[in-house]
Amino acid sequence: MTFTKAIASLLCGSMLTLAVPAFAETQLKVYISSQHQPDVWRKALDQYEASNPDVKVSIETGGNTSEAQSQYLNTVMSAKDSTLDVLILDVIRPAQFAAAGWTSPFEGKDMSAYLPAYAEANTVGGKVVALPAFADSMFLYYRKDLLEKYGIEAPKTWDELKAAAKKITEGEGNADLQGLSFQGKAIEGAVCTFLLPYWSQGKTLVENGKLNFDDEAAVNSLKLWKSFVDEGVAKKNIAEVATDDTRKEFQAGNAVFAVNWSYAWGMSQSAESAVQGKVGVARLPALAGGDQATCLGGWEWGVSAYSNHQDESKKLVEYLSSKDVSKFMAMNASLLPTYPELYKDAEVTGAVPWFADALQVVETAKPRPVTPRYNEVSEVIRTTVNSVLAGVATPEEGAAQIKARLGRIIR
Ligand code: GLC
Repeated sequence: MTFTKAIASLLCGSMLTLAVPAFAETQLKVYISSQHQPDVWRKALDQYEASNPDVKVSIETGGNTSEAQSQYLNTVMSAKDSTLDVLILDVIRPAQFAAAGWTSPFEGKDMSAYLPAYAEANTVGGKVVALPAFADSMFLYYRKDLLEKYGIEAPKTWDELKAAAKKITEGEGNADLQGLSFQGKAIEGAVCTFLLPYWSQGKTLVENGKLNFDDEAAVNSLKLWKSFVDEGVAKKNIAEVATDDTRKEFQAGNAVFAVNWSYAWGMSQSAESAVQGKVGVARLPALAGGDQATCLGGWEWGVSAYSNHQDESKKLVEYLSSKDVSKFMAMNASLLPTYPELYKDAEVTGAVPWFADALQVVETAKPRPVTPRYNEVSEVIRTTVNSVLAGVATPEEGAAQIKARLGRIIR
């Protein structure tokens, strides 16, 4: 080939290469919790890419529990790393992220279409710092088939649950079948484990920003959980059980009752599930004489303050937080909607019938303390619950530890 010919073919080649992308392409990276069906979010993102051909979105997942994810994000954000553009954040984190300046606010965003709890959780210091991804609450999952077999109604108190679990497990005589699975590992979910019976006694933990610890309610809560282990209703190793372990145990047909969030439903109804068509979902029981109470969960979409694609990321988050995507995730991943009207949507309730009764539960669910120091609050509660369940501390010692340590964080 002559020199001129070689140059001509090079030029031709480069023109061809230049001719392929007719527009500049923006690459966005979205961080999604691995537990919350990244494969279903992927479908929603594919839809976005189809109508925004100049944007390509990739997913990064990590950590199977909320605090594992938060540790990872803390590292990335502390390093002012720009690789992640959009972040999914547990409902307890917007306050911390906003205080650290890690998310970019959505100026002038009207939050009135969302459930009030999420409009509130995402508004920090008058600024909207993230937009709702999905709502969440803890529920009681139960084996409808087994309760029917023994003529038992879904329990309304923890004592009723204990009696039902004993009757069914004794009757079944199956060594793999435990009465109740709940989160005893030192993970974020164990904070809710502690708070459920505590709140059920009408007590609050924080009042006007000050600690309002009730010793007796705390001891009762820890005693209740420990009694499930001591009486053989929960597994001996409950101190090692995280949220997705509960989901798996229940789905394998190895638990009569389980405390879990809404995501567990979709998987329990999949073809691989041993309990497909045999699952009931009800409000969590109360302590005798108390009220049924549950923990407010949920996840939010934030735009990283260090993203180099602020406008494109905000546009993507508006989409991910839209009513259409909320409906899609409700129907395909059993994630509770953040828009109240979707709880009455026939297609949503057709896909997940119990969502028709879930709005009131989400609306009355109680939030964990809102503070930029939430990580420390969580650590105190979850490690203590864990040590009581492991038999390292008594319920009385555990309650005293929580009180003393929280007193140094929330003043
Ligand atoms: C669920 C909830 C979240 C909670 C977590 C604890 O994902 O939505 O708010 O912190 O479980 O395990």
